[in-house]
Amino acid sequence: MINPAVEIHDLTVAYREKPVLWDIDVVIPEGSLCAIVGPNGAGKTTLLSSILGTIKPASGWLKIFDQPVEESEELIGFVPQRESVDWDFPVEVLDVVMMGTYRRLGWFRRPGKAQHDWAMECLEAVGMADLHRRQIGELSGGQQQRVFIARALAQDARLFLMDEPFAGVDAATEDAIRHVLEDLKRQGRTVILVHHDLQTIEQFFDHVLLLNLRLIASGPTMETFTRKNLLRTYGGRLTLLDEAAEAVRRIRTGGGGGGGS
Ligand SMILES: Nc1ncnc2c1ncn2[C@@H]1O[C@H](COP(=O)(O)OP(=O)(O)OP(=O)(O)O)[C@@H](O)[C@H]1O
Ligand SMILES: [Mg+2]
Repeated sequence: MINPAVEIHDLTVAYREKPVLWDIDVVIPEGSLCAIVGPNGAGKTTLLSSILGTIKPASGWLKIFDQPVEESEELIGFVPQRESVDWDFPVEVLDVVMMGTYRRLGWFRRPGKAQHDWAMECLEAVGMADLHRRQIGELSGGQQQRVFIARALAQDARLFLMDEPFAGVDAATEDAIRHVLEDLKRQGRTVILVHHDLQTIEQFFDHVLLLNLRLIASGPTMETFTRKNLLRTYGGRLTLLDEAAEAVRRIRTGGGGGGGS
């Protein structure tokens, strides 16, 4: 039996009395590449925050590698949803990544050559070493995303949480992020990330967690990422996949279906 990286029991989270996660029970095995999938407002970011320990549950509990959330901060590397970061903060790329090493170093010691080299190695891993002297605010969105992934790598964590790292990035950045994920997987790390592109789920992830206030399903991608579960997740509305399937069906059957002029 594989050890659980994350174990969530009867978790309910509410903002001002209004529940946004309801009675979630889930186990994510160590070594998984897990995608959290669900519509806007489904509670995906809230679930990551609960795992991180930055939101207190209304009820239930979570364990990270068999430890209570309050004691697991050092085990987790986090890449926030991009809109939630203040990019005007005047700081160089390398310094952002060095911040990732502080926790291990202890706040009162100055980072030395080892930390510097390690931060550069992490920037190298996302193809950003050349831009290490740039101000973070002077990078493109995709480059900023890579820097934040490098910062999480610098934490050398056992569990990585990433909130929509693929949102709005180009093919080169997408490839860079995928390589990082594959490396982490090879090293036996666990990655849980929020992902909106349903077309790439089966290709990228071995575990999916379908969420919409409640847990719809969680398990190995092959068994869990089904049309039936997707329809339940998206409230029975047509998903992009369904729309694509519908369009193909119409072409095949020569059916009109769409309003001509
Ligand atoms: N700080 C907050 N105070 C009050 N309500 C909040 C807060 N943060 C989130 N919510 C509400 O909780 C619900 C879940 O939000 P959450 O950010 O977890 O969704 P999400 O699945 O990450 O959505 P998205 O795909 O848009 O990022 C939403 O209805 C949102 O409006
Ligand atoms: Mg979100």
